[in-house]
Amino acid sequence: MLDLARKRIVLGLTGGIACYKIAELVRRMTEQGATVDVVMTEAATHFITPVTMQALSGRPVFVDAWDARVPNNMAHIDLTRGADAVLIAPASADFMAKLAHGMADDLLSTLCLARACPLLVAPAMNREMWANPATQRNVEQLRADGVSVLGPSAGEQACGETGDGRMLEAHELLTDLIAFFQPKLLAGRHVLLTAGPTSEPVDPVRVLSNRSSGKTGYALARAAREAGARVTLITGATFLPVPRGVTALPVTTARQMHDAVMASVGDADIFIAVAAVADWRVKNVSTQKLKKTSEGGGAPLMEFEPNPDILAEVAKLDNGPWCVGFAAETEKLAEHAEAKRARKGIPLLVGNLAHKVMDADTTELVLFDAQGAHPLPAGDKLDAARRLIAEIAARMPA
Ligand code: C5P
Repeated sequence: MLDLARKRIVLGLTGGIACYKIAELVRRMTEQGATVDVVMTEAATHFITPVTMQALSGRPVFVDAWDARVPNNMAHIDLTRGADAVLIAPASADFMAKLAHGMADDLLSTLCLARACPLLVAPAMNREMWANPATQRNVEQLRADGVSVLGPSAGEQACGETGDGRMLEAHELLTDLIAFFQPKLLAGRHVLLTAGPTSEPVDPVRVLSNRSSGKTGYALARAAREAGARVTLITGATFLPVPRGVTALPVTTARQMHDAVMASVGDADIFIAVAAVADWRVKNVSTQKLKKTSEGGGAPLMEFEPNPDILAEVAKLDNGPWCVGFAAETEKLAEHAEAKRARKGIPLLVGNLAHKVMDADTTELVLFDAQGAHPLPAGDKLDAARRLIAEIAARMPA
């Protein structure tokens, strides 16, 4: 299902050069299934035209409080009734000041005051305007009033200065908006995850690794973040972007992954071991690149030694986190998964058929707990991850 299916969003634009990013945002929002009603202040129309916004949203754009197209002439009431949220992007310093004080002197500020749905703002302004105590006071007031403040980020600004106050990019705003609608099942929890492959050196240029893409682990990290958790992701090498709001600690070998997990596990409430950790590492790692020993290409002899079992070790900790393991099997899933859950001493083990789901965008998970096997519907890895997070939240001790 699309991430914003059946959502109607009132998107308010106020005056600022960041308006140029909103054309892209509207495209992405509608692509995700949202119905977008654009409302602009008069100042915003100097930066991007209502024509552009109407073409991209496919719906009439409102600027004027006296717009006669609304049958009862009450656009400030009607536009937000039945809406799922109002998002102000860009939110200028002036507009936030008005919001903080409940002023209502144009259509957008009046509909914000008259709304009966959540309000999100994405500030965009010069760094001095952002740092000004008056702006900071207003932002604090908005937060205290239950308004969600998205960003701002830091960086180069259109005015030529560098600092805080840049509006988030369209894709970041979209991610935050989607996250806003996810239930906050893990609010206040710290979720620690491992993801991706480990890679064990053979010599200075060769490694032994596996085909784990990290997609399931990264999707779970995103889903845990969307559910309101603080998320630490200990990750082997992948080609994936780190999910927004997630702290990622990159590692290479199983021992590095073990050490990073042990350093972060102290205050973790939940540990989800998704990584495909190499069971063995090469014992006799060569300090020089291995050479063919004869014309026929005589193969070198490799000796192996076992890697630490990170999940089993975390599961044994006194006052340790609630542990979830993964089992990627190629046959006899239920049999192997049940045995693994018992061997690792964990309350929940998630099984899948490795050859079907490795590197794929879809997955088919089966949960194994003390009550037995519970298959989840097959689907997109992010949908599966959100479902799994809900299953974890439901099983967690309070
Ligand atoms: O030990 P096995 O590979 O059968 O079990 C898989 C589960 O254990 C996965 O959750 C995996 O992340 C975790 N694991 C681990 N450390 C290892 C091997 C596996 O944390 N050395």
